[in-house]
Amino acid sequence: MDLSTEILGIEFKNPLLPAAGPLTGDDKKMKYIASLGVGGMVTKTISTEAAKVPRPCIVATKDYVVNAELWSEYGPDKWINEFLPGIQDLGMPKIISIGYTKEQVEWLVPRLKDFGDAFEISTHYVGKDLSPIAEVAKTASKLAGKPVFMKVSPHMPDPVEFAKVVTEAGAAGVVAVNSLGPAYYVDPKTGNSPLGSENRYGWISGPVIKPLALSIVQRIRQALDIPVIGVGGVKTAEDVVEFLEVGASAVGMLSSALIFGKAQYKRIVDGLEEALRKRGYSSVKDAIGKKLEVKHAEFTVNNPKVDPEKCTLCKLCEYVCPYFAIKVTDRVEVDPNACFGCGLCESRCPTSAISGVLKK
Ligand SMILES: Cc1cc2nc3c(=O)[nH]c(=O)nc-3n(C[C@H](O)[C@H](O)[C@H](O)COP(=O)(O)O)c2cc1C
Repeated sequence: MDLSTEILGIEFKNPLLPAAGPLTGDDKKMKYIASLGVGGMVTKTISTEAAKVPRPCIVATKDYVVNAELWSEYGPDKWINEFLPGIQDLGMPKIISIGYTKEQVEWLVPRLKDFGDAFEISTHYVGKDLSPIAEVAKTASKLAGKPVFMKVSPHMPDPVEFAKVVTEAGAAGVVAVNSLGPAYYVDPKTGNSPLGSENRYGWISGPVIKPLALSIVQRIRQALDIPVIGVGGVKTAEDVVEFLEVGASAVGMLSSALIFGKAQYKRIVDGLEEALRKRGYSSVKDAIGKKLEVKHAEFTVNNPKVDPEKCTLCKLCEYVCPYFAIKVTDRVEVDPNACFGCGLCESRCPTSAISGVLKK
């Protein structure tokens, strides 16, 4: 199956990229991640100064990561003289992540542009005002002479407007999304946040943010015909397909590799063909943008149907029903006058015995 994807003439052998972060923090780490079969490389964010990163800076549960990392802990000299020359023979497209202000970008782009195929610019620490972000996009695009992607953070009030403004200013496309926050994670064992950052705050990412990231990618692509690299909460090959369907041309992942191990990249690449086939696609390009149609709200109430063969009478549906419409005796009884057709019982049934409410 053809797993390749293309963004503005840049060919990726498959759509999975590492998202900017510690796993791509120097040339040795990037070479290792490349060996796991990803389709392209994205560096850790480089700025004009080395970041002074508070420690500890990463904590994870199985559903999310909270991190207090900033940009690269190495200054630009190290990147220019060592890390970027060290990945020139990687054999895959290289996206150089940089940040943050117009002045910093003016300094960085001319010095870094020959090392990569495109730039990604983080807007994580520059506030919510779109005009300085547009200035950065304009400056970088002029100086780079190659595609510039602006990375949107989920705290941006209007990601569609963000995408509109930056592409009008000259950016080629958008990376959506960065981590969400600030977030205050409390370790249940100690009752305190384990991070060393100011206020002990971090940024949340990983599987819990996937629905948010999918909607941001989808809304941008419903409004604009621009290339989008989808990022946020990817854990499986099926997740990659979901991002392609809402219009992403390539898909980044970081947190699931931090939670489950770096081999998650290989597992996803190995599972991509099967995941595409399961959803009826014959290639990666075939899946891109298949779910961009705007669907209108519906108001019909459908009551749940219960398959007695599958039902174990566990009563979870009765316990969770917010409308008090279910009573479980020697069978599941649904009061059609009380049932609101909300769908919760069907989504929580552990044996899939309930059907007929949720959209397929
Ligand atoms: C530990 C850590 C460090 C990160 N560092 C950067 C960074 O340097 N630049 C950047 O643009 N995003 C950074 N991110 C955000 C990720 O690139 C990504 O956008 C976000 O985590 C959502 O994807 P995920 O759920 O697959 O991790 C970092 C995330 C984590 C967890």
